[in-house]
Amino acid sequence: MKIGFIGAGHIGKALAKKFVKAGYPVIISNSRGPDSLQALIRELGELASAGTSEEAANADLVVLAVMWDQAPEALGKVKDQLAGKIVIDATNNMNSAATDKPTSVVISEQIPGAKVVKAFNTLMAATLDADPQTGSGNRVIFFSGDHPDAKDTVGKIITEFGFAGIDLGDLQQASPLTEFAKALSVQNLVSYPN
Ligand SMILES: NC(=O)c1ccc[n+]([C@@H]2O[C@H](COP(=O)([O-])OP(=O)(O)OC[C@H]3O[C@@H](n4cnc5c(N)ncnc54)[C@H](OP(=O)(O)O)[C@@H]3O)[C@@H](O)[C@H]2O)c1
Repeated sequence: MKIGFIGAGHIGKALAKKFVKAGYPVIISNSRGPDSLQALIRELGELASAGTSEEAANADLVVLAVMWDQAPEALGKVKDQLAGKIVIDATNNMNSAATDKPTSVVISEQIPGAKVVKAFNTLMAATLDADPQTGSGNRVIFFSGDHPDAKDTVGKIITEFGFAGIDLGDLQQASPLTEFAKALSVQNLVSYPN
């Protein structure tokens, strides 16, 4: 399964490292084009390549890791390509202008037909980048979505990375918990075996 990245900043880089470490090929894109990503590609190693957003959106599973205000433009170019695909939405709306719908629903509406799974949005990038195993426990990643098959795939990836995944339900249910400044936002939690 090839993973495409739309956004290659703090979160994009931290997640790309996890995918590469787990053996997935990744294609990474940003707004400035593939030439600007060469240093990152070298750092990520031979499983990584740089491309345009359109090339990244051709991957089997796509990660959205742009700032909230950048999402409409970033997704507008590739929305047809994303229909039917799993899209991991790692964005947060950190603007004062709140949306009247859950943020992941707003993202879903920008990419009709895509199977959006909200995940990896509650940890700071540096924490996400750290070892998910801490002592005998595993750092927690919350995820949510409206498509059980997509959540199943993302849940398995979260486990492969070494995190403890917690399924919070559908997008509507999870939003009040995981959005920016909500209860689980920036909570660096660890799950220990019983
Ligand atoms: N940083 C954190 O600790 C953290 C934690 C949890 C969630 N989040 C969320 O994750 C998202 C990304 O945050 P970040 O800190 O990684 O942001 P960032 O460092 O600013 O990176 C944003 C990336 O998006 C790219 N981009 C912008 N417009 C684009 C477009 N039209 N097409 C393709 N790529 C585009 C940028 O490319 P250029 O550089 O070429 O413009 C850049 O690579 C945000 O929604 C944020 O709220 C962040």
